[in-house]
Amino acid sequence: MNTQQYFPYVNNKMFAENVALNDIAMQVGTPFYCYSNTAIGQNYHGYQQAFVDQDALICYAVKANGNQAVLSTLAKLGSGADVVSEGEIRRARAAGIPANKIVYSGVAKIASEIEYALREGIFQFNVESEPELELISQIATRLNTIAAIAFRINPDVCANTHAKISTGKSENKFGVPISKARLVYKQAAALPGIKVQGVDVHIGSQLTQLAPFEEAYKRIAQLVLELREDGHSINVVDIGGGLGITYDAENIPSKQAYANVAKNQLGKLDCKIVIEPGRSLLGNAGILVSSVVLIKTGEERQFLMLDAGMNDLIRPSMYDAHHDILAVDVSNTELKTYDIVGPVCETGDTFAKARKVNESKSGDLIAVMSCGAYGAVMASTYNTRMLAPEVMVKDKEFAVIRQRPSYEEVINSDSVPSWV
Ligand code: LLP
Repeated sequence: MNTQQYFPYVNNKMFAENVALNDIAMQVGTPFYCYSNTAIGQNYHGYQQAFVDQDALICYAVKANGNQAVLSTLAKLGSGADVVSEGEIRRARAAGIPANKIVYSGVAKIASEIEYALREGIFQFNVESEPELELISQIATRLNTIAAIAFRINPDVCANTHAKISTGKSENKFGVPISKARLVYKQAAALPGIKVQGVDVHIGSQLTQLAPFEEAYKRIAQLVLELREDGHSINVVDIGGGLGITYDAENIPSKQAYANVAKNQLGKLDCKIVIEPGRSLLGNAGILVSSVVLIKTGEERQFLMLDAGMNDLIRPSMYDAHHDILAVDVSNTELKTYDIVGPVCETGDTFAKARKVNESKSGDLIAVMSCGAYGAVMASTYNTRMLAPEVMVKDKEFAVIRQRPSYEEVINSDSVPSWV
């Protein structure tokens, strides 16, 4: 899917579905995140169709965007959730995602979170280490219950993605090395309160090629056979998330092609396939809309200064990520080259360098594209800037799905001890 499909230009003005962004900005102010409900649904259906002939469970990776309206949209479509904290379990449950569709990933789960997950009755723990396994066993035994587990296996495959979001190499902190897998499954089978049911793998995010998935799934399929030989009953394979989206000019394999790779490698095992997509469900369903504060002419460059900053969208600063940046009103067709920056007091607060955009002036709206995933969820109040509100659009309707906090709310959440 290409971003613009749900954010089209109508008479030279950008819309979200059938709502003019300008109308939202008038009501909500800028900056704000804007999501297309239809795009989320279409992306979900894409996975559903791709895996239609498999026993598959789509567990949306809540970390990509945990807004209740997003989770409710996906819950109504039948989605489960991949979570990494008690907070995310609570979000998923509050949005109506049943506990038996929740898989709990995360590299250092703490005791209280494990207890909460066990009490809720989640579908599966994706266990990342032996100490974590022992902790789950102790807590499950104390609660007189059974934890269904898979180990997250680190298959030592290079995902060819940004180093900060690559997880499947042996030097990364994630999972149990595949060479130790048979040993840890043996330990798990001997522990009380533990039911071994699956194998889990996730090699990284924003993958643009199928070959690393194929290699990882091939290794996992072989491991499943070995584990069965060892007497374990393995009936779930969780294949993680990671399929990328087009931010710039990346050519992303289709969901169907991705599903075919999974089916070819794992289809014969007769397992339930769990998938944990985040970015590929939300990424291109959302944008960040900002206003031009002013244009500053430096000695060498023109700076387009926005009222959104790195605290609203950190991906460019953190991963050197590319996001398309478009004028909302393109009636002036003259293009100018700008460095597009935010108001935060750091040079890293730069969205793009030497980018061509329609000539803009103070007050104009600018859309930063492909921000539905890892945008609002990674925002902060750095520089005491308020978190940007989130808006969801469906056809001709829009609704604020998270309000901009007031200054009072933010400042009053601090407290001063009597001894200060
Ligand atoms: N499952 C596990 C265990 C994960 O760690 C992740 C993402 C996913 C699923 C979902 O992956 P996706 O389908 O979204 O690629 N903040 C970074 C991305 C971090 C991804 C972390 N794990 C960014 O903005 O690019």
